Amino acid sequence: MMSPFVSHRSPRKILVTSALPYANGQIHLGHMLEYIQTDIWARFQRLIGNECYFICASDAHGTPIMLKAEQDGIEPIELIEKIRKEHMRDFGNFLISFDNFHSTHSEENRQYSELIYNRLKDKGHISRRTIKQLYDTEKQMFLPDRFVKGTCPVCGAEDQYGDNCEVCGSTYSSAELINPRSVMSGSSPVERESEQLFFKLENFRDFLVEWLDSGHTQKEIANKQKEILKEELLEWDISRNAPYWGFEIPDENDKFFYVWLDAPIGYLASFKNYCDRYNLDINEFLKPDSECEVYHFIGKDIARFHTLFWPAELYGADLRTPTAVWAHGFLTVNGQKMSKSRGTFITAETYLKHLNPEYLRYYFAGKLDDSIDDLDLNLDDFKMRVNTDLVGKLINIASRCAGFITRVFEGQLSAGLPNTQMFEDFAQASETIAKAYESRQYSKVTRLIMQLADQTNRYIDSEKPWVLVKEDGTRKQVQGICTQGLNQFRQMMIYAKPILPKIAEETEAFLDIEALNWQDAGTPLLNHRIKPFKPLITRIEDKKIDRIIEESKENDIETTAISSEFEPLAEEIGIQEFVRIDLRVVRIINATHVDGSDKLLRLQVDLGGSTRTIFSGIKSAYQPESLVGRLTVIVANLAPRKMRFGLSEGMVLCAGTGDQDLYLLEPDSDAQPGMRIT
Ligand code: 2FM
Ligand code: ZN
Repeated sequence: MMSPFVSHRSPRKILVTSALPYANGQIHLGHMLEYIQTDIWARFQRLIGNECYFICASDAHGTPIMLKAEQDGIEPIELIEKIRKEHMRDFGNFLISFDNFHSTHSEENRQYSELIYNRLKDKGHISRRTIKQLYDTEKQMFLPDRFVKGTCPVCGAEDQYGDNCEVCGSTYSSAELINPRSVMSGSSPVERESEQLFFKLENFRDFLVEWLDSGHTQKEIANKQKEILKEELLEWDISRNAPYWGFEIPDENDKFFYVWLDAPIGYLASFKNYCDRYNLDINEFLKPDSECEVYHFIGKDIARFHTLFWPAELYGADLRTPTAVWAHGFLTVNGQKMSKSRGTFITAETYLKHLNPEYLRYYFAGKLDDSIDDLDLNLDDFKMRVNTDLVGKLINIASRCAGFITRVFEGQLSAGLPNTQMFEDFAQASETIAKAYESRQYSKVTRLIMQLADQTNRYIDSEKPWVLVKEDGTRKQVQGICTQGLNQFRQMMIYAKPILPKIAEETEAFLDIEALNWQDAGTPLLNHRIKPFKPLITRIEDKKIDRIIEESKENDIETTAISSEFEPLAEEIGIQEFVRIDLRVVRIINATHVDGSDKLLRLQVDLGGSTRTIFSGIKSAYQPESLVGRLTVIVANLAPRKMRFGLSEGMVLCAGTGDQDLYLLEPDSDAQPGMRIT
């Protein structure tokens, strides 16, 4: 039987990428969600016989990398090479099958960035004008948006970044912040004018609307970008002033490409580096009418760069646009944003010290589909799924059957199958499973494989080989039953191979066969001698997970110490000023999502007799249900603020280090709603 997925058509030529990780920090499990998602897809494509190149690189430019190098007392180039090696080590250990992992700080990337920029410039898609930006006179540099904090000019929320307000969702430029301060030096920045270069996205509005309407990304993502396109836009600042760590812009004085200009170009640069080494013609992929396919897997937070700027740049530069950009949601751990203090900010390295990468690959696959919904790694559920399903149901089939074949039949499989129909049914499943892989419905893949495993276990249970083996007259049947079981195990391992590449390889070794490919699921393995079985994978022990959490907490101490340098204390105030702020205990009586907002939750709080509605930017850290009933603290005399979503009557107090962690303040449980904090 031949699946149409492996027809005699010539193989598809596919370039697939994951987002390029910044070369200034460690890979954590949030990153791994994406690399695992992409890797499974790439491995599937290769398994069914397509020519698939999985390409990635370090995202090596930008201010944060420059500053981190400065902090560590090394040159940026040393930092990015060191981190690149660490990233490659982690990815390798997680069995991520990149064909190339290059760097955006490379000659190939400089050339492509210049090429694309020059083409855009020649065609009139680049403009220049003078803008005001905040300048740190102590550090002697212009401040990127994320390095300025202050009060939101729209809603008055304090401690907001220079580009957007996490509380009301407004976007603005850092020069508009009230009371801005540099997070680098703590000083008040001054405004300075400088000339910058802009990419005129406006010129691509029609092209983009059509592109977004043509199924090149998920509906939700397309709709969101189309909202942006409705506004009068749309000039994107692609230049940065020195000092900046990046590529100098040709024919300009001390101007550099903004990191997000050369980052996606890094996909092409890394592929070019690969093509040059393997004598492939990259232009076959890049020409506008190319029949090769290009897919970018990304997190939903960087969709704008990949579904507006990137296709427009490519189109404007006469290069092919992506076949598709597939976004995924964020990873939460135990229902909450990953947190250093809870020990759920787990790095790839820490995980790998204690647990097998294929556990996580299996668990993520079991939860992934084509949506942009967030995905939760619930550690209890993780343990259960791996122990019960992966080890208990699937892998166990091999040990149930192989033992008899080795002990009683000298490793020899029978010449025929007692139940050819069941084997045929399993082969038929290949069609549905392949479709599910192709459309990124991996949760469906694992569900289907588990159904096959259940069916196989039921078959073995009902045939009772352990009884039959005891009698001379029935012993011979055992060989057939176990051959049937092992053949179905082999089929399931073919189907699971993109998810569990190492277990699949070990299966090939113990079955003593060549590397399995998709078509092999249609033909049984008979009359063949297998090797003695060794356990392929063991169960997860509780203590391993506990150790991971413990170690992830330890990591925290270091990082907190560093990040506290970024938060200089606010200016001293007198007690009279403090008492003007009326802080009260409240009980959250209702909490709901806010349609159209990524950041906000709508909270209803009881202030001891009266209730208030407060919009709070804590969605990334809390599921609304988990908040109902909790006590917390609000600024009760803050003037009500009109937001896009309604009136906010107060402010909930949270501790946090910005994006990473967020903690609602909670008084002891005996406190009563309405009590004043003094
Ligand atoms: O968001 C990030 O982590 C970026 N480093 C992703 C870049 S993807 C591509 F555009 F390079
Ligand atoms: Zn605001």
